[in-house]
Amino acid sequence: MLAGMSQWLTLSRAAHLLGISRVALQKRIRDGELPSFDGMVDAEDLQRTWPQLDLEESGSFEKTRAIREDAFARRLRERVLPSQEALAQRLFAQGQELAEAQRTLMRYHALFDAVQARLARPPAPDTAELSRLLDDGLAHALAEPAPGADVAALDAMLRVMSAHVTVKPSGREFFVEGSETLLKAALRAGLAPNYGCGNGNCGLCKARVVSGEARAVAPSDYRFSEAEKAQNHVLMCACTALSSDLVLEVLEAGAPEDIPEQRIVAKVRCIDALGPDVMRLHLQTPRSNRLRFLAGQRVTLGIRAGVGDGGDVHGELPVASCPCDDRNLIFHVRRGDRRPASADFSAALFDGRVKVADDVSVWGPWGRFVLEKEGERPLVFVAIDDGFAPINSLIEHAIAVDAAESIALYWASAQPGGQYLPNQCRAWAEALDEFSYRPLPTDELSAALAATPGLPRSEVYLAGPGDSVEPLAAALLAAGVPPAQLHVEAL
Ligand code: FES
Repeated sequence: MLAGMSQWLTLSRAAHLLGISRVALQKRIRDGELPSFDGMVDAEDLQRTWPQLDLEESGSFEKTRAIREDAFARRLRERVLPSQEALAQRLFAQGQELAEAQRTLMRYHALFDAVQARLARPPAPDTAELSRLLDDGLAHALAEPAPGADVAALDAMLRVMSAHVTVKPSGREFFVEGSETLLKAALRAGLAPNYGCGNGNCGLCKARVVSGEARAVAPSDYRFSEAEKAQNHVLMCACTALSSDLVLEVLEAGAPEDIPEQRIVAKVRCIDALGPDVMRLHLQTPRSNRLRFLAGQRVTLGIRAGVGDGGDVHGELPVASCPCDDRNLIFHVRRGDRRPASADFSAALFDGRVKVADDVSVWGPWGRFVLEKEGERPLVFVAIDDGFAPINSLIEHAIAVDAAESIALYWASAQPGGQYLPNQCRAWAEALDEFSYRPLPTDELSAALAATPGLPRSEVYLAGPGDSVEPLAAALLAAGVPPAQLHVEAL
């Protein structure tokens, strides 16, 4: 049988499969024994011309497959595969062919069902009716690709390029792009899996493969027990998805108390001004010692003071960045901060006592100002002045999780232009359909919130200086926001 062969074969491939020379094959073509078209021969014609041939039995298929696999493996080893762009193009083209073949097959199947149903229904159809039925059905089967064929092709390609992972027991899902690790992909999607070093040493990120296959892409020193090996455990920080669908059993943090307190030392990577009175402090953690936290939480930062400076300087600040990038921690620090928890650190930063490449201790995380897990309600974020820092972290997380019905951001400041990252907020509003951004003076905030449609149905996150957020929180409760849906961070 020729089952499994492509319909058209090159002369070389046909000759190879038949075990004859190309010249001998060409002679049969010249003699009119074997039709050919444009240098190709049809598999069915080959079978008709050599009826005694059983290609599967002859071992030719096996031989060809082995040669091909060997050649492919060698190309992989020698890194002589086509460029990524070329591979992507070819994958897309093959996906289109596959989608087209599936579409045609489904239409033939529908035609077969229609004929069968008509034959089963009395009176029996005459030849003319049957012929009409077949003609119409064939015209439909061979019609132009239906709208959506390209989508099906793209889907076929994407199933190769990115794997889909389902997490148990939460049912959360994420995609693994290229050969990134399962941990990186899960964090990027806003999940909070258990992990520690991020480096294959501690074993805290182990997960059980329920179905599908994962493969190591990074070295690891952690040794699994025999029981863990038998249960298909893998390290999320060292493995990627091999199959296009993977189901993993993962330990996830559901609440702030699931995240352990950590102490790490990070380096100052950059300090820049976001405005006349706000600095951005960018810390980077070591590769093997990252900070695990939930979006919206705070940490304590500590620097060593110089001799005679009166001791170390500490400050408690909200992390303004998303936990999806756990090595890069961003903070917004206000000039002249008088809050006891952060005043000293603010003064040290604005006095130039914190410099690029300095070590900064990071303790934490603290606080419960985090996104409600089950919330699919509209999200309303209200930031007052540098209360935008934890709001920024929550918004980045909410966008990654992609579960909210809509997101509205109000950013109030007593200073004209006190919204120190306006372009970023406008970019969110432009890029996301259900995202709205409204900068406004602080004294207009209450009235604007009271007029927000659907406010009592929303989860409301409010952050800013304590003396501003407290009256506003009371106003929101009076406007019908249930206490369980109001989350307040007084800085
Ligand atoms: S996080 Fe430590 S081994 Fe994966």
